[in-house]
Amino acid sequence: MIAITRRRLLGTGAFAASGLAIPGALRAAVDSTEGRPSLKDLARRKGIKFGTAVAAPQVLEPTDFTDLVEREVALIVPENEMKWFEMSPAQGVVNYELPDRMVDFAQAEGIVFRGHCLVWYWRTPWWFQKLPTRAEAEAALIDRVRSMTLRYAGRIDTWDVVNEAVEPKDGRADGLREAVFLKVLGPGYIDLAYHHARECDPKAALVYNDYDIEYDTPEHEAKRTAVLRFLERMKHDGVPLDRFGVQGHLTVGKMPFSETKFRRFLADVAGLGLHIMVTELDVTDELAPGDIPRRDQLVADEYSRFLAVALDEKAVDTLIPWGLSDRYSWIVRHEHAKEKWRTDGLDGRPLPFDAALQPKPAWTAIAHALDGAPSRS
Ligand code: XIL
Repeated sequence: MIAITRRRLLGTGAFAASGLAIPGALRAAVDSTEGRPSLKDLARRKGIKFGTAVAAPQVLEPTDFTDLVEREVALIVPENEMKWFEMSPAQGVVNYELPDRMVDFAQAEGIVFRGHCLVWYWRTPWWFQKLPTRAEAEAALIDRVRSMTLRYAGRIDTWDVVNEAVEPKDGRADGLREAVFLKVLGPGYIDLAYHHARECDPKAALVYNDYDIEYDTPEHEAKRTAVLRFLERMKHDGVPLDRFGVQGHLTVGKMPFSETKFRRFLADVAGLGLHIMVTELDVTDELAPGDIPRRDQLVADEYSRFLAVALDEKAVDTLIPWGLSDRYSWIVRHEHAKEKWRTDGLDGRPLPFDAALQPKPAWTAIAHALDGAPSRS
């Protein structure tokens, strides 16, 4: 573990010019061309895979951003391109072009590809929601899972099979979200999807991915409890589930955090024999002051607080921010909840690199957290 007091600024190079501190113990890993280690190398030293979400236009043509992706990450996940709604505008029509090209890009670069996501209530095609019978809906769901997992079998390291199926606010005893699949097919849709995914791609690790479990609020506590019961039930029933994904959409200054409760939750999930991934990490700063150095430090502190606990749990073996650079973030594009938008008209600064692809204090926070993490091997 590196002590903050051992941080040093490098004397030369672009990294030093950015004014960021580099941990002293990391200097052995410093890349001589740019004066800083890559996050993927810092992660790899601990047995952790470091990745990012990307959108197709960001990687299919070579740019300064593709250079950054190739330098920094060992894994990519498509931000939207593999979602059912995006791929299938009408029944019987599936457009594989972008997912195919993204998987090809990753393979050519030696980058691991993560599949996201097969079944998600929020990005379900309209035509599915209008199918007249339960039998047709079940056949369509099975076809969605089987066609995707078969097509990319052997090229996907982890698949989010079902995304965000738990919502305690909906008041059901089983904690499940009252949304499209549950309404049409009942709770059995979940196990069905996992069994078909395993059968078609036995090598991919199968993930359940969800949000709002990090903070110390009654809502997050209820979500943790419901998710844990959900995972226990799946393991008990022999559903092929290998991993749990903690999305990690964080916010500066809004909610209290309990290291103890979050740590306990992760340990409980690990106790079920599941690996854990941080799958969509980013930090909104709508409550932070506009001043950039101050704001960037608050965002970095939020990363640090979360990662100090998350990476201390050895079952957590993958770390994926939801984008690398503020140039490309759903937060900056205002595609997330309106209450998370800044009201002063300034762009949010949620990710480890700024829009000019320079590392920010959030980069240092992630580097420190990786360096301080126990080794997984
Ligand atoms: C988001 C994308 O980033 C946006 O571009 C899109 O408009 C909506 O979806 N949880 C998930 C991700 O599992 O797929 C979501 O991604 C963010 C929340």
